Amino acid sequence: MQLLITGGLGYIGSHTVVELLNNNHEVVIVDNLINSKITVLDRLQKITGKKPVFYQIDLLDKTKLDEVFVKHQYDGVIHFAGLKAVGESVQKPLAYYHNNLTGTLHLLQAMQKYSVKNLVFSSSACVYGLPASVPITENFSLHPENPYGQTKAMIEQILQDLAVSNKSFNIAILRYFNPIGAHTSGLIGEDPQGIPNNLAPFVAQVAVGRLAKLSIFGNDYETVDGTAIRDYIHVVDLAIGHIKALEKLNQNPGLVVYNLGTGKGISVLEMVKSFEKASGLTIPYVFAPRRPGDVPVNYAECSKAEKELNWKATKSIDDMCADIWRWQSQNPNGYPDK
Ligand code: UD1
Repeated sequence: MQLLITGGLGYIGSHTVVELLNNNHEVVIVDNLINSKITVLDRLQKITGKKPVFYQIDLLDKTKLDEVFVKHQYDGVIHFAGLKAVGESVQKPLAYYHNNLTGTLHLLQAMQKYSVKNLVFSSSACVYGLPASVPITENFSLHPENPYGQTKAMIEQILQDLAVSNKSFNIAILRYFNPIGAHTSGLIGEDPQGIPNNLAPFVAQVAVGRLAKLSIFGNDYETVDGTAIRDYIHVVDLAIGHIKALEKLNQNPGLVVYNLGTGKGISVLEMVKSFEKASGLTIPYVFAPRRPGDVPVNYAECSKAEKELNWKATKSIDDMCADIWRWQSQNPNGYPDK
């Protein structure tokens, strides 16, 4: 298939592009490079031996986006592009709503105009907010707790309405739990700007000496060891989930929604121990107060994706930590600029 990938040089986008190229799909990437580096393109070529077509375009630039639809014909689109930092979204809600919603509207308008009717959308488990219970199934109600999560839930609603209005659209909404890990080559991985907000990249940067120690937010939760529990999923498992979702769209299902996680909860301390095993290093940490807005326990029910997509996460937390360590130790400062 010929596919348009928005945000294809970002963390999840780049890992998905590798799987697409390895499965003989043709890929056109658009990315504004606001949160990614052009060097990712070379790394993609190193891993796959193929060079995807790339345009540095912002989805807010409707004219330029339109040109990408005129130049190539697509069988489908995978839409990753968007701002994604929870804390920043609370500080800059208008930027988040403008960028994520308007960018998506431009993309959907172009898809409608040029009759591209298959879409995989990158959503997030944060649309569920504080869940009433675990594991979380796809029919739990949505209560996002920050502007970033709101943009994901709003886009989901736009997609629902679009699918109702036009039955020829096939749309897969994928709600990711906590994507971590890196490609086993160590050539691509997560490269956050500034001090990481998320656990795995923070631990990785402590391990390479960029940060002094980890603060573990909360050790008084009612969990095995008092620390919070999440459903960490290897980014390559997640990438493969996108391929399975694209295959599903060929059956003309209309709009479908899937959780992508492992269904297994891992505590912060378990993750730190696994990382220590992978790296052979000791990760210095202190216990700190709970982070406002954090839920104690969060993990997915993934049987719907297993049954309908024939997809299941296969990689363990030890695999995830080993792959993060390979990426971070080979690229201690992340991607070079050029
Ligand atoms: C966060 C986002 C969520 C997003 C997800 C993507 C917040 C509030 N939520 O979820 O919207 O979909 O990332 O992966 O940011 N922790 C520490 N020390 C740290 C960092 C994290 O103890 O320095 C703990 C957290 O308190 C949490 C766990 O590690 O219990 C995981 O945190 P994180 O990686 O930020 O993911 P989420 O909070 O689940």
